[in-house]
Amino acid sequence: MEKLELLYEGKAKKIYRTNKKEQFLVEYKDDATAFNGEKKGTIVGKGALNNQMSAIFFQMLSEKGVENHFVERISPIEQIVQKVKIIPLEVVVRNIAAGSLAKRLGLAEGTALRHPVVEFYYKDDELGDPLINDSHISVLQLATPEQLQQMELVSLKVNEILSEYLLTRKVLLVDFKLEFGLTEDGKLLLADEISPDTCRFWDADSKEKLDKDRFRRDLGHVEEAYQEMLKRLGGEVLV
Ligand code: C5P
Repeated sequence: MEKLELLYEGKAKKIYRTNKKEQFLVEYKDDATAFNGEKKGTIVGKGALNNQMSAIFFQMLSEKGVENHFVERISPIEQIVQKVKIIPLEVVVRNIAAGSLAKRLGLAEGTALRHPVVEFYYKDDELGDPLINDSHISVLQLATPEQLQQMELVSLKVNEILSEYLLTRKVLLVDFKLEFGLTEDGKLLLADEISPDTCRFWDADSKEKLDKDRFRRDLGHVEEAYQEMLKRLGGEVLV
């Protein structure tokens, strides 16, 4: 596998072209941002930790029948993924009120939700990634109704699989964000990453935060929280 030119640099990852037409190389960075890029910092070792955690989650999901873009982890901070065109929507699934939902609905953080809540956000930095509904998505032609329905179904299945697994590791899956993409022949695939950058993980007993909220809210021990999550997933912390 040859790493060719940089195609895209995001806040937490870089995407490179490879000599294989159907595959991209993803490099996970230590850079961390929050509040739509207003807060910037570094979480030492995050790239390697998230590369490993995303690989673990994507592999687990593949085994449970959730097709996704992950192909292979090839170095501490790099993985090969199937090439897709990302749909500019973030699908957020929530089990417990936290973050923007707690604020929007006036719920105390930690309130258990009667059933999972699925939300769509429009991936647009200039607009600040607004919450949008089916009607907005249709008018902006971001996805077809069928794609939207499939994204929602897959997201709820991911929620079931990961919530159940994480509980065995004494972790509550509070909420998470997924992204989907389309392959050249139009197939919808789960893509991007699944890591403490994109999920809220709480220790099941103490409710201690084991995710990026430690960075967002200046709670300290950010690196330790990411390392702790990897350990709970059975990964090896290479520090
Ligand atoms: O901030 P909010 O409560 O809406 O975030 C919900 C979930 O989506 C959290 O797990 C957060 O980490 C994730 N998220 C994300 N990328 C964003 C916004 C939210 O990964 N741009």
